[in-house]
This record gives sequence, structure tokens and C-alpha cells, in this order.
Amino acid sequence: MERGKECLAGNVWRWTTSGDWCFLGYMPFDEPSRRQFLAFLASSPLLAAAGLDDTLLTRLLRGDRQPDDAALRIAHALAQPPAKPVLAAAASDIRTPAEALDVFDFEPVARQNIPVAHWGYLATGSDDDATIQANRQGFDRWALKPRRLIDVSRLDTSLSLFGTRYPTPIVINPVGSQKAFHPLGEVAVARAAKAKDHLMVLSTVATTSIEDAIAARGGPVWFQLYHQSDWAITKQMVQRAERAGAPAIVFTVDLLGGSNRETMIREARKDTRTCTKCHLGGAPLPGISGRVDDRDNRRKPNLVGYQKATPIPEVGTPTWEFVDRLKQSTSMKVLLKGIVTAEDAQLAVQHGVDGLFVSNHGGRAENSRRATVTSLPEVVLGAAGRIPVICDGGFRRGTDVFKAMALGATAIGIGRPYIWGLGAFGQEGVEAVLGILRREFEVAMKQSGTTSLAAITNRHITPA
Ligand code: GLV
Repeated sequence: MERGKECLAGNVWRWTTSGDWCFLGYMPFDEPSRRQFLAFLASSPLLAAAGLDDTLLTRLLRGDRQPDDAALRIAHALAQPPAKPVLAAAASDIRTPAEALDVFDFEPVARQNIPVAHWGYLATGSDDDATIQANRQGFDRWALKPRRLIDVSRLDTSLSLFGTRYPTPIVINPVGSQKAFHPLGEVAVARAAKAKDHLMVLSTVATTSIEDAIAARGGPVWFQLYHQSDWAITKQMVQRAERAGAPAIVFTVDLLGGSNRETMIREARKDTRTCTKCHLGGAPLPGISGRVDDRDNRRKPNLVGYQKATPIPEVGTPTWEFVDRLKQSTSMKVLLKGIVTAEDAQLAVQHGVDGLFVSNHGGRAENSRRATVTSLPEVVLGAAGRIPVICDGGFRRGTDVFKAMALGATAIGIGRPYIWGLGAFGQEGVEAVLGILRREFEVAMKQSGTTSLAAITNRHITPA
């Protein structure tokens, strides 16, 4: 029997994982429905996946069922999980946030909307971007151990941090220059944070001021801090954030050695617009310092208006002495972002730091190839329950959130996914991304029989 012929005549076959055919059943494939099926195929991206051309389809539509090899390839393409490019093409078809099934659905839409150089800035890791991949793969090392027959009808996902209660442990992490992705940038994100009541952290290099972000959020926003080469300016930035109503600053310590961002540079080279219209320095240069380049400050409202006052500028890069100084200069909580070892977590506790972000800057600091979710347990150990530990890096699914919580995270931070939502659909897109992650996390909690964050423990996961 010629299997391809059978397939088109009515029997449905499927490849097994061992590469053999397996018979799934009979579908009454009469001539009109066969033609309908082939017409559908002609307009489907699967056609490209199967490597077929119009001539062949025309012949099949005419009733010429030869050659069967080609028909087999169609059946094969339909039976297999679609190849990646097909998935991306299908995902980019979402026209509204409501159509998205997961946060990945927003990425291709955002990519279409965002200028290529800006896309490069968002997408880049460091060197070959391997740490971005490592962050994702870190989650695959853990599997869930669901528990059954526990009443999960009442779920409490709320988190209390420094005296404020949030309905979810999913934090909107700082991402710079958000007006590069959508005209409203951080304002749209802050409005989404307000609508969904999430903790939001604003970047020093935001395109919105801390005052405007807090106004749009309708409540306190944390301020992420990049130190400046002049302590007096750093201090004024800290005082300004405090005056604006930020209850915490998040001092980022993972870029102090610089980072090499090749994807950003490659994508910027494809952009035909005149970068100097917005960036005084023009296209990005190889290597990025942890300090912000003064030439690019025109659209960075958190970096303008300060008085240079220190006779001796900062010497060298910050050390724990700088952390002490920061602590003494403010009554806000001081958190460190970029801690990945038990040793540094212990030192942070000794220096009176109020909280930690386990972070490798979304794979765009050092190219460590170590997932943050892999670093998380040792940081939790180092913090010894004395201060909260927030983990970021590669969170894309509710099950990722669950795994980090099971490994001892107090909360988790997201970056690129909400920017995909922003780039794709503005505020609505951000809200949809937050909603999807929350829903997925709730399902993971319920499936694991956990009805509160405290109930999620390392007994609910196991090495995969
Ligand atoms: C800024 O925080 C960056 O990663 O570019």
C-alpha cells in the first residue's frame, strides 16, 4: 500500500518519535473535502515548511495524486510539531493582546514594530548571547512535583515587601529607554503596573522621570541606580528619588566591569535612520560601561539637572565602601542588583543591605553562562532569611516563577516579556503579559497543591 495515497484518500497517519508511521484512524476524505484541505494547505505557512511549491499543489488539486512522496511530506509536516520559523510566523499573526496564548506571542509583533537598532538594544546579551540562553535553560533543570487532592479553590498569591502588600510576586524590573519601544514608554508600563497592581522599578536610564513614573503608577515606584563618576551627582539622584516618593533604590552592580554587546551593534548597523538625531554619540560603540555616557543623556530625564560639586570625582569603580556610603545617604531601602554568589550575599547582609536581586542583567552583563535560577539557591543561603531575594533572568512562564519561588526567591523580576507587550500593543500589551504570567503561575500553584507563596517549598520541585 502507498501510504501517502492512503493519507490523502482518508487514512490519517502520523510519524512516531522513532521515525515510523503510525495509523491514527480513518477520516472520510471525499473529493470536495480533499480539495478544501489542499486549498487550505495552499494558503498555509505549512506549505513552506513542507518545502512544496504551487505546481505540485495545482497538480494535487486537479486530482493528480502523484507523486506520493510529496504528499507524504505534507502529511509529515502536519503531523510534526511545527518548525520554529512557522511558529514565529503564526505567532506574529496576533492582532490583539487578547489573542496571545503566552508571552512569546508578543515578541514577533514587537519586533515588527520596533526600529531595528532599538530591537538590538533590547535583544542583546553579551558576547554571543549565551547567558540569555543559559537563563532559560536553567529552568529546564527543574521539574515540578505536583501534589493532588488538596483544596486549592482559595488561592493567595500576595506578597508583603517592606510593609507594602502586592497581589503577586511578579515584579516589573527596570529596563532602560522604553520610549525606544513605544511612544509612551515607561508611562504606559506604569499605568499597566497600576491597573494590575505590580511593583515597578524604574531605570536610571529611563526615558521618563521618576516623578512622572510615580504619577502614572499612582503610587510608589522603586528607583534603579547607576552611580555617576561624581558622588555629589549620585547623591542628588538618590535624594531626588526619595523626594519623589520612591521607597527603595536598587543599586545595579553587575555592569561595573562593562559588557560587550555584539547583537546590539550588529542590529544597529542595519538601521538606516540617523542615530545622531537622538543619540549625540551616534551608533553604539563596542563595549558598554556601567556608567551612562553623558553624550546620550538628552532623553534621560533622571540624569539631568544636577550640580557638579565634588572636588575629587570617584576614583575607581565602587566597592563595599560605596554601598556603606549609599546606605548612609538615604533613609530609603537599599537593594543590590546583580548578586550571584553566597559570598556576596553574606557581605551584603553584613553591610546592612536591605535586599538582593539575583541577576546577570538578563544575560547582558558578564557572559557567565550561569543561569540566575542556578545561582539563586546559594544567594538564598548567603542571605540566610535576613533580607528578601528577588530573582530575574529568563522568566517567561508561570512554571518558571513557581520554580524560583520553590528555590527560595521572595519574588521574581521580568524584563523583556513586558517590553514585548509594550512594543506590540502599548499599555494593553503590558497588561496582557502580566495577566498571562499571573494566570500561568496560579495554575502551577494549584497543580502543586500550594495555596500561598509560603506554601511553595523545595519539596515541590526536583532535578529534571
Ligand atoms: C541598561 O540597563 C542596559 O542594560 O542597557
